[in-house]
Amino acid sequence: MRTQVAIIGAGPAGLLLGQLLHRAGIDNVILERQTGDYVLGRIRAGILEQVTVDLMDEAGVGDRLHREGIVHHAIELVFQGERHPIDVTGLTGGKVVTAYGQTELTHDLMDARKAEGLATVYEARDVSLHDFDGSKPVVRYRRGGETHELQCDFIAGCDGFHGVSRATVRDRVTEYEKVYPFGWLGVLADVPPVSPHAIVYGNSERGFSLCSMRSLTRSRYYVQCPVDDKVEAWSDARFWDELRLRVDPHLAERIVTGPSLEKSIAPLRSFVAEPMRFGRLFLAGDAAHIVPPTGAKGLNLAASDVKYLSSAFIEHYKERSAAGLDHYSDRALHRVWKAERFSWWLTSLMHRFPDTGPFGQRLQDAELEYLVHSKAASTALAENYVGLPL
Ligand code: APR
Ligand code: PHB
Repeated sequence: MRTQVAIIGAGPAGLLLGQLLHRAGIDNVILERQTGDYVLGRIRAGILEQVTVDLMDEAGVGDRLHREGIVHHAIELVFQGERHPIDVTGLTGGKVVTAYGQTELTHDLMDARKAEGLATVYEARDVSLHDFDGSKPVVRYRRGGETHELQCDFIAGCDGFHGVSRATVRDRVTEYEKVYPFGWLGVLADVPPVSPHAIVYGNSERGFSLCSMRSLTRSRYYVQCPVDDKVEAWSDARFWDELRLRVDPHLAERIVTGPSLEKSIAPLRSFVAEPMRFGRLFLAGDAAHIVPPTGAKGLNLAASDVKYLSSAFIEHYKERSAAGLDHYSDRALHRVWKAERFSWWLTSLMHRFPDTGPFGQRLQDAELEYLVHSKAASTALAENYVGLPL
């Protein structure tokens, strides 16, 4: 088999890249280790920057997102038992974010890919990448007991943090990493969100909390917990009680509880691999970087990588120019590090660390006070939250 761009991974990064390339007339094949249902079963964040919404439109898959996504003009910060709105739209000259689950976005991209008859190989095992330092890269994989070979012009490694792409160039990568000393316990439930117009980020002496949503009938809530806690130790009742204790009393009273559809504990990590290009192999999305979920930048960063990378491939094929490909790694990393900084900062501000103590808590409270009362400080938060320009 031969294609122009071999894409490893059918997560949001790989699927979006495939769709954008297809619309530009560039042939691509996606190789995915799991089944489609498995990919859709992963629950991830769901706040889209305008840049991500625009890319979904550009890929021709924005219709349902515009119909069902919930537009947010504000966020709310809870500290010292009180809730403070931040008028994100007012502070950024009209920008918004859209609440739309990553599962739904992935679904839309998969449906479009299927409808257009584009090649996706699910359950591709033992994917290996070869000859990307030369002009004729090859990807090998096994499926149904047979070994297959895919010849291509370029390889896009969109295979997430645990994928094979970055592992293949391990000895050429510089890694930057910070692991946080806590996790997030997340619960998904079919109950109306307590705050449908704004995500609520809570800082309390008991730890961080987050009230989010997937739709007007499905909520997503989180509380900070020890990373080695067992999910089984968290009954639904214990979770709801803990959440209520970490928000302001008015909000706590209005939280509608119900049985959890999903409950899991996720570790928090900041990670960047440099560079993001190795000859004809390009890394994008979680394959190259991870942010802690505070601020919901993971999916949006994957989307901005894909914007830079698809433009670079289009320039290569349509204009015979290598400029976009040559600049891809620098351009992408420039935006990645700004989002890394923002995600780290918001995480540091909102969580209790082992060494936070009473002094640290007072400092957090003082910074939060400053943040909600200073226009300059809330503007800095708002412009990062809606996403920095490409
Ligand atoms: N071969 C083929 N596919 C692989 C391999 C492999 N060796 N290893 C991993 N994959 C697949 C995974 O099964 C997954 O479907 O690559 C895909 C990577 O998808 P994501 O992990 O979702 O990464 P990405 O597309 O970069 O998405 C970034 O979405 O998933 C979130 O937290 C993530 O929000 C971030 C954003
Ligand atoms: C989510 O809806 O899962 C979510 C929202 C905002 C965040 C993180 C996660 O900052």
